[in-house]
Amino acid sequence: MKIVVIGGTGLIGSKLVNKVREHGHEAIPAAPNTGVNTLTGEGLAEVLKGASTVVDVSNSPSWEDAAVLNFFETSTHNLLTYGAAAGVRHHVALSVVGTDRLSESGYFRAKIAQEKLIKESSIPYSIVRATQFFEFLKGLADISMVGDKVHLPPVLFQPMAADDVASGVASVAVAQPVNGMAEIGGPEQFRVDELVRRRLASLKDPREVIADSNARYSGAKIAEKTLVPGNNARLGHTTFENWLTQSAAHIASAA
Ligand SMILES: NC(=O)c1ccc[n+]([C@@H]2O[C@H](COP(=O)([O-])OP(=O)(O)OC[C@H]3O[C@@H](n4cnc5c(N)ncnc54)[C@H](OP(=O)(O)O)[C@@H]3O)[C@@H](O)[C@H]2O)c1
Repeated sequence: MKIVVIGGTGLIGSKLVNKVREHGHEAIPAAPNTGVNTLTGEGLAEVLKGASTVVDVSNSPSWEDAAVLNFFETSTHNLLTYGAAAGVRHHVALSVVGTDRLSESGYFRAKIAQEKLIKESSIPYSIVRATQFFEFLKGLADISMVGDKVHLPPVLFQPMAADDVASGVASVAVAQPVNGMAEIGGPEQFRVDELVRRRLASLKDPREVIADSNARYSGAKIAEKTLVPGNNARLGHTTFENWLTQSAAHIASAA
């Protein structure tokens, strides 16, 4: 099968391209720097020629409310239109566990719009909702600043390694469309504030993390289980401690 990975140069996309190839399929990374732009439509007709599956793991360069909504609406509309014209038989997209419970957030309103367009299209689809990536924990601190401190609600979450996200998406991409959602998550549950505090400590980042029940997550008020996947979620194997060890070893070998 020819499988086009939109956002195939990003964190998840670059890992996903390798996983799809390990399954024995042709994987084509597509992104602006490979000549494919889903916002303008540039290069889409060419890259989708002969493709049976499209996997969308792109992300908006800006998370400002209007910009992110425009990104996911326009790019998804273009992908589905060009995909239908090219005879694509499976559209796979990466979304986030709890997306439908987070509509107070501009970012998640954009993901809700993306999911809706996919469900309403004529192309068979699978939407993979993943929990937060370990790689995103520092970014979560960055978007949760109040003054010079990180404010986060002490609710449950079950984050996972980007490598396990890519494995989960690859398994869905090489299988038949589910015409619905599949959830994936990490092997352990934590409190959001607790794990961000541990991640910042591992980076020797001195910012203080405050457990604040009124703090919002990406602009949305959340409850104890808003970010937690359901019982049928497929769970990755990488624990937080193993991921920390692996990423420290990776940084040391790169240096
Ligand atoms: N962060 C989390 O914890 C989390 C959890 C669950 C799900 N997700 C979802 O995971 C997905 C991927 O996230 P990520 O962190 O892997 O993203 P990322 O590393 O920021 O990569 C984004 C990719 O999208 C590409 N892209 C940007 N604009 C494009 C355009 N106009 N046309 C085509 N490609 C474009 C980028 O290409 P360039 O580099 O060339 O710009 C890059 O390859 C997102 O949809 C996000 O909602 C995230």
